[in-house]
Parts: sequence; structure tokens; C-alpha cells
Amino acid sequence: MKHIHVQGTAIPALGFGTLYLDEKTALRMVGAAIAEGYRHIDTAQIYLNESPVGSAIKASGVPRDNIFLTTKVWFDKLTKKDFLPSVEESLRKLKTDYVDLLLIHWPNPEIPLEESVEQLQLARDKGYTKHIGVSNFPVKLVEQTLALGADIITNQVEYHPLIDQTKLHSYLREKNVTLTAYSPIAQGEIIGNQQLKEIGEKYGKNEIQVALRWMMQQPDVLALPRTSNEANLKSNFQIFDFELTTDDMAQVDKLKEQNRRVVTPDFAPEWD
Ligand SMILES: NC(=O)c1ccc[n+]([C@@H]2O[C@H](COP(=O)([O-])OP(=O)(O)OC[C@H]3O[C@@H](n4cnc5c(N)ncnc54)[C@H](OP(=O)(O)O)[C@@H]3O)[C@@H](O)[C@H]2O)c1
Repeated sequence: MKHIHVQGTAIPALGFGTLYLDEKTALRMVGAAIAEGYRHIDTAQIYLNESPVGSAIKASGVPRDNIFLTTKVWFDKLTKKDFLPSVEESLRKLKTDYVDLLLIHWPNPEIPLEESVEQLQLARDKGYTKHIGVSNFPVKLVEQTLALGADIITNQVEYHPLIDQTKLHSYLREKNVTLTAYSPIAQGEIIGNQQLKEIGEKYGKNEIQVALRWMMQQPDVLALPRTSNEANLKSNFQIFDFELTTDDMAQVDKLKEQNRRVVTPDFAPEWD
């Protein structure tokens, strides 16, 4: 497993995503993921599965401090009144005293950024989280967050071979903020991609393994594939026994020209 080192912590670069996993599936798949060797789990208040995620971690027998656990505060809980109580509820559901990373899930223009960022920092001061970060923040908002003095370790955003995140990724690197790739499989849209398949054939790997490997070979990038299927879980983990060449990397890079974004809710900010 590759680790990304940031603020004194080594984070497993390949994590497990839990969006859309209902309670039963989350319990089963998080358990399977930990048994397979995944040590980085991503959930959120809005996924409504923090409770089974917490149960699966407890049942795994793997010590809590060997797992990097992230949750996210939903955008209607970003006020001074609601933020900390919502995190306390998350911790109760997750059956733990702390998460490793707490994120603002989406920016909310109705609530001053200063207020949410203050609460995020307060959550860390209280020991509810070891690290803080944001999600779905374009460059402008990351800039504002950093200007408020918040030492965020990541911005979790959509990233896969079909989207162009060049501007955001270079900006984050300049600021020593990692990029956590959500929807690394483009929610299925890279399946069947001919170029990725052809690259994979040289190594006996499929198109998803190529896409995930491509991310692992980029500096300060983490990825969170999600699956509800044990065979896919295993396959997605088997990306540390081969290496893409510079030419392979460049070929995958070219796919971003189509700049395809799959997560586009109506409350999204103006993207870079
Ligand atoms: N911060 C945010 O706003 C945000 C937004 C979106 C996602 N996320 C995070 O990022 C994680 C991943 O993103 P995502 O859930 O949007 O989608 P994703 O990981 O890009 O794609 C998931 C899809 O890929 C399929 N899949 C996975 N492995 C496969 C394999 N080896 N072969 C064939 N199909 C495979 C899954 O189907 P099967 O179940 O059949 O395998 C599922 O339909 C989320 O779970 C969540 O933790 C965060």
C-alpha cells in the first residue's frame, strides 16, 4: 500500500468509499474491505451509514488507530448552532471517540465560510477529529479557507481519467494540500474505456485497475473507489503489483480532454 504523508500522518492512498451503500451492504462491505487490507474508510452524515460503518470497524478486530476514518458534515449543519452537535452524533453512530479526518462536505453560500471553518477547527480542538479538510471546494474557496488560517490536509473532489482537474491539483500541490479523488471510477463511466483497457492488457489488469493505478502514481493523490461486490473489492485492491510507464501515464492524461463531470447536484459551486 502506498501512503501519502501529510502533517505527520501517513494516510493509505487507496481507501474505500461508502456512498449509496445501505446499512446491510455497508456493514458487509466495510467488513470485507478491512479483511482485504483496506485501512482507509470514507463515509458521511448524508450517506446514512455511519452506524454500520462503525459496527463493521468494531467487529473487524483491527485496532481503531490502525484505520484512517473520514466523515463529512452535511451542508445544512455548518452553522455554529448545528456543527458540533452533528459531529457528536456522527461519533456516536461511528462508535468511536474521534475520526481521523472531518470534512465540510459541500460549501454552503448561505453560511459564512468563516463560521463553518471556525467550527471545523473547534471540532479538532475538542479532539473529535485529528485532521480537518474540505470537499467540493474550487480553488477560490480553498484560497479563502487557507486565508482563514485553517490547515486543511485535503480537498476531496471528483477525480478520474475523464475529468480535467489540472488547475485544482496544481494549486493544491503548491499549498501542500492533498487531493482525495472521489468517484475514481466515474461511477462506472470508465468501464469499457478502450484506451484504458489496451493499457491494462499489457499488465493483465482491467480498465479500473489502470485508472486507480494512474492515481496512485500521482503525487499527493488518494482515491476512494466504492463497490458493493467482494470480487470487485479484491480486484480494486490489486494495483500495487504493476507500474504504468511514463507513456502509459501520458495516454491516460489525454482522456481528460473530454472533461466529463458525473457529480453535478444543483447546489454545486462554480467549478474551476
Ligand atoms: N465528497 C463528495 O461529495 C463525494 C461525492 C461522491 C463520492 N464520494 C466518495 O467517493 C466514493 C467513490 O465514489 P462513487 O461512489 O461516486 O463512485 P465510484 O467509486 O467512481 O464508482 C462506483 C461504481 O463502480 C462500480 N465498480 C467498482 N469497482 C468495480 C469493478 N472492479 N468492476 C466493475 N465495476 C466496479 C460499482 O459497482 P459495484 O457495486 O457493482 O461494484 C459502482 O457502481 C464514494 O463512495 C464516497 O465515499 C464523495
